Amino acid sequence: MIEEAAKLLARSRFAIAFTGAGISAESGVPTFRGFNGLWKKHRPEELATPEAFRRDPRLVWEFYKWRMDLIRKAKPNRAHYALAELEEMGILKAVITQNVDDLHREAGTRNLIELHGNIFRVRCTSCGYGEYLKESGRLEEFLREKDLPRCPDCGSLLRPDVVWFGEPLPRSALDEAFRLAERADLVLVIGTSGVVYPAAYVPQIVKETGGKVIEINPEESGITPIADVFLRCPAGEAMEKLMTRVKGLIG
Ligand code: APR
Ligand code: ZN
Repeated sequence: MIEEAAKLLARSRFAIAFTGAGISAESGVPTFRGFNGLWKKHRPEELATPEAFRRDPRLVWEFYKWRMDLIRKAKPNRAHYALAELEEMGILKAVITQNVDDLHREAGTRNLIELHGNIFRVRCTSCGYGEYLKESGRLEEFLREKDLPRCPDCGSLLRPDVVWFGEPLPRSALDEAFRLAERADLVLVIGTSGVVYPAAYVPQIVKETGGKVIEINPEESGITPIADVFLRCPAGEAMEKLMTRVKGLIG
């Protein structure tokens, strides 16, 4: 299977990757549906909604600061670095991710489409203000801050710049993702349950437009039925083996 996947990747003209929480599991970031722990008796679905934020913004911000603190300590793993290297080699044209953890960027991926936003970005609930806390250097201070975060321009509440349940995805990111999927002749699907739409359309569009689907997941997912090659394996191990073979093939 690794051999077959490596051949498809080495021969591809326009390969992309589509990733979910599973690619960050080996970096210590809990997956959503694998997150069997409740945060203070709350399920993420209860907190990651506009209704929850209207009802109790202090509780939602406590949850997000907890996640931001957990994720900022996580490091990219072999799978993140392998995708960045495949892009460097000119094989991978883009990474489309459902993850908000910023680990693809940390690993060096340049053409990154974040369909569900980024947990280190905040935006104002009323004016267009937005801030990437890692770039502005305010992350530490922001996490320590006890008061509710307010917009420096208009004083309204700031919210995490992520897509909450029931919210539409950022139009430009979704359009770009679908455009890339139509153009791609191969998609590497890593660590997603493939049940959350419209993101999960990405591998299906590649398939419907004649492309190949390689899936890496220790368990079967909603994508497995359309996979041409299914590598039942954790992402780090699978990507390490795949990179060795691809390099062997392209010499
Ligand atoms: N390597 C590869 N895949 C893994 C690994 C691993 N080490 N560990 C777990 N997985 C797989 C699981 O088998 C599962 O299929 O990763 C998948 C994680 O699925 P989810 O938790 O459902 O995460 P994801 O598919 O990214 O969820 C999509 O749902 O909750 C919303 O917005 C949130 O972006 C998220 C979206
Ligand atoms: Zn504002």
